[in-house]
Amino acid sequence: MSQPSAAPIVERVDAGHRYEILVDGKRAGLTAYRDRGEQRVFFHTEVDDAFAGQGLAAALVQQALDDVRASGKRIVPVCPYVAKFLKRHNEFADIADPVTPDVLRWLETELD
Ligand SMILES: CC(C)(COP(=O)(O)OP(=O)(O)OC[C@H]1O[C@@H](n2cnc3c(N)ncnc32)[C@H](O)[C@@H]1OP(=O)(O)O)[C@@H](O)C(=O)NCCC(=O)NCCS
Repeated sequence: MSQPSAAPIVERVDAGHRYEILVDGKRAGLTAYRDRGEQRVFFHTEVDDAFAGQGLAAALVQQALDDVRASGKRIVPVCPYVAKFLKRHNEFADIADPVTPDVLRWLETELD
Protein backbone atom coordinates (compact mmCIF):
# COMPACT_ATOMS: atom_id res chain seq x y z
CA MET A 1 0.00 0.00 0.00
CA SER A 2 1.37 3.42 -0.85
CA GLN A 3 1.85 6.01 1.87
CA PRO A 4 -0.63 8.88 1.93
CA SER A 5 0.82 12.05 0.41
CA ALA A 6 1.92 14.84 2.73
CA ALA A 7 -0.13 18.04 2.55
CA PRO A 8 0.80 20.09 -0.52
CA ILE A 9 3.13 23.04 0.07
CA VAL A 10 2.79 26.41 -1.64
CA GLU A 11 5.91 28.51 -2.19
CA ARG A 12 6.45 31.95 -3.71
CA VAL A 13 9.29 31.87 -6.23
CA ASP A 14 10.18 35.55 -6.59
CA ALA A 15 12.75 35.08 -9.35
CA GLY A 16 10.21 33.21 -11.47
CA HIS A 17 7.30 35.56 -10.66
CA ARG A 18 5.13 32.66 -9.61
CA TYR A 19 3.77 30.58 -6.77
CA GLU A 20 4.27 26.84 -7.00
CA ILE A 21 2.42 23.99 -5.33
CA LEU A 22 4.56 21.01 -4.39
CA VAL A 23 3.25 17.51 -3.75
CA ASP A 24 5.76 15.17 -2.16
CA GLY A 25 8.43 17.73 -3.09
CA LYS A 26 7.51 17.78 -6.79
CA ARG A 27 6.00 20.76 -8.56
CA ALA A 28 2.38 19.94 -9.40
CA GLY A 29 1.23 23.39 -10.49
CA LEU A 30 1.88 27.10 -10.59
CA THR A 31 0.19 30.46 -10.76
CA ALA A 32 2.18 33.15 -12.55
CA TYR A 33 2.10 36.90 -11.99
CA ARG A 34 3.80 40.20 -12.69
CA ASP A 35 3.86 43.12 -10.27
CA ARG A 36 2.54 46.50 -11.43
CA GLY A 37 3.22 48.85 -8.57
CA GLU A 38 1.14 47.60 -5.68
CA GLN A 39 -0.88 45.32 -7.97
CA ARG A 40 -0.01 41.65 -8.38
CA VAL A 41 -1.42 40.72 -11.79
CA PHE A 42 -2.16 36.99 -12.08
CA PHE A 43 -2.23 35.86 -15.69
CA HIS A 44 -1.88 32.08 -15.81
CA THR A 45 -2.59 29.10 -13.56
CA GLU A 46 -1.87 25.50 -14.42
CA VAL A 47 -1.90 22.13 -12.69
CA ASP A 48 -0.25 19.11 -14.26
CA ASP A 49 -2.73 16.64 -15.73
CA ALA A 50 -1.53 13.96 -13.32
CA PHE A 51 -2.80 16.08 -10.41
CA ALA A 52 -5.96 17.52 -11.96
CA GLY A 53 -9.32 17.69 -10.19
CA GLN A 54 -7.97 17.30 -6.65
CA GLY A 55 -8.47 20.89 -5.62
CA LEU A 56 -4.79 21.77 -6.00
CA ALA A 57 -5.46 24.89 -8.06
CA ALA A 58 -7.86 26.09 -5.37
CA ALA A 59 -5.31 25.45 -2.59
CA LEU A 60 -2.58 27.15 -4.61
CA VAL A 61 -4.61 30.25 -5.43
CA GLN A 62 -5.98 30.51 -1.87
CA GLN A 63 -2.47 30.60 -0.42
CA ALA A 64 -1.14 32.89 -3.15
CA LEU A 65 -3.92 35.40 -2.46
CA ASP A 66 -3.34 35.14 1.31
CA ASP A 67 0.29 36.00 0.59
CA VAL A 68 -0.74 38.99 -1.54
CA ARG A 69 -2.78 40.28 1.37
CA ALA A 70 0.07 39.70 3.82
CA SER A 71 2.37 41.66 1.47
CA GLY A 72 -0.02 44.63 1.44
CA LYS A 73 -0.55 44.28 -2.31
CA ARG A 74 -3.66 44.07 -4.48
CA ILE A 75 -4.93 41.35 -6.85
CA VAL A 76 -5.74 41.70 -10.56
CA PRO A 77 -7.30 38.48 -11.91
CA VAL A 78 -6.42 38.31 -15.61
CA CYS A 79 -6.23 34.51 -15.31
CA PRO A 80 -9.77 33.11 -15.72
CA TYR A 81 -9.22 30.56 -12.96
CA VAL A 82 -8.23 33.28 -10.47
CA ALA A 83 -11.19 35.39 -11.61
CA LYS A 84 -13.54 32.48 -10.98
CA PHE A 85 -11.94 31.83 -7.59
CA LEU A 86 -12.45 35.47 -6.57
CA LYS A 87 -16.14 35.32 -7.50
CA ARG A 88 -16.51 32.49 -4.97
CA HIS A 89 -14.31 34.04 -2.29
CA ASN A 90 -15.68 37.42 -1.34
CA GLU A 91 -13.11 37.73 1.43
CA PHE A 92 -10.66 39.07 -1.16
CA ALA A 93 -13.02 41.66 -2.65
CA ASP A 94 -11.42 44.48 -0.66
CA ILE A 95 -8.02 43.89 -2.29
CA ALA A 96 -9.17 42.95 -5.83
CA ASP A 97 -8.93 45.38 -8.75
CA PRO A 98 -10.67 45.06 -12.12
CA VAL A 99 -8.93 43.91 -15.28
CA THR A 100 -8.74 47.07 -17.39
CA PRO A 101 -7.50 47.61 -20.98
CA ASP A 102 -4.54 49.48 -19.44
CA VAL A 103 -3.55 46.46 -17.36
CA LEU A 104 -3.86 44.16 -20.38
CA ARG A 105 -1.69 46.44 -22.55
CA TRP A 106 0.88 46.68 -19.76
CA LEU A 107 0.88 42.89 -19.31
CA GLU A 108 1.42 42.31 -23.02
CA THR A 109 4.59 44.41 -22.98
CA GLU A 110 5.77 42.74 -19.77
CA LEU A 111 5.42 39.28 -21.29
CA ASP A 112 6.99 40.17 -24.67
C1 LIG B 1 -7.61 25.16 -14.62
C2 LIG B 1 -6.69 24.23 -13.80
C3 LIG B 1 -5.51 25.06 -13.25
C4 LIG B 1 -7.49 23.63 -12.65
O1 LIG B 1 -6.64 22.82 -11.84
P1 LIG B 1 -7.22 21.77 -10.76
O2 LIG B 1 -6.23 21.56 -9.67
O3 LIG B 1 -7.72 20.58 -11.49
O4 LIG B 1 -8.43 22.63 -10.20
P2 LIG B 1 -9.29 22.43 -8.92
O5 LIG B 1 -9.47 20.94 -8.66
O6 LIG B 1 -8.78 23.26 -7.79
O7 LIG B 1 -10.62 23.10 -9.44
C5 LIG B 1 -11.31 22.57 -10.54
C6 LIG B 1 -12.17 23.70 -11.04
O8 LIG B 1 -11.43 24.45 -12.04
C7 LIG B 1 -12.32 24.81 -13.06
N1 LIG B 1 -11.60 25.13 -14.30
C8 LIG B 1 -11.03 24.26 -15.14
N2 LIG B 1 -10.49 24.92 -16.19
C9 LIG B 1 -10.75 26.24 -16.00
C10 LIG B 1 -10.47 27.42 -16.72
N3 LIG B 1 -9.78 27.39 -17.89
N4 LIG B 1 -10.88 28.60 -16.24
C11 LIG B 1 -11.56 28.66 -15.08
N5 LIG B 1 -11.85 27.58 -14.34
C12 LIG B 1 -11.46 26.37 -14.80
C13 LIG B 1 -13.20 23.59 -13.18
O9 LIG B 1 -14.39 23.95 -13.84
C14 LIG B 1 -13.45 23.24 -11.71
O10 LIG B 1 -14.48 24.06 -11.24
P3 LIG B 1 -15.53 23.54 -10.15
O11 LIG B 1 -14.79 23.73 -8.84
O12 LIG B 1 -16.65 24.50 -10.31
O13 LIG B 1 -15.86 22.13 -10.47
C15 LIG B 1 -6.15 23.05 -14.67
O14 LIG B 1 -7.24 22.34 -15.21
C16 LIG B 1 -5.23 23.47 -15.79
O15 LIG B 1 -4.01 23.55 -15.62
N6 LIG B 1 -5.79 23.75 -17.00
C17 LIG B 1 -5.00 24.15 -18.15
C18 LIG B 1 -4.56 25.59 -18.06
C19 LIG B 1 -5.73 26.55 -17.88
O16 LIG B 1 -6.73 26.50 -18.59
N7 LIG B 1 -5.59 27.46 -16.88
C20 LIG B 1 -6.65 28.39 -16.50
C21 LIG B 1 -6.56 29.68 -17.19
S1 LIG B 1 -4.99 30.48 -17.08
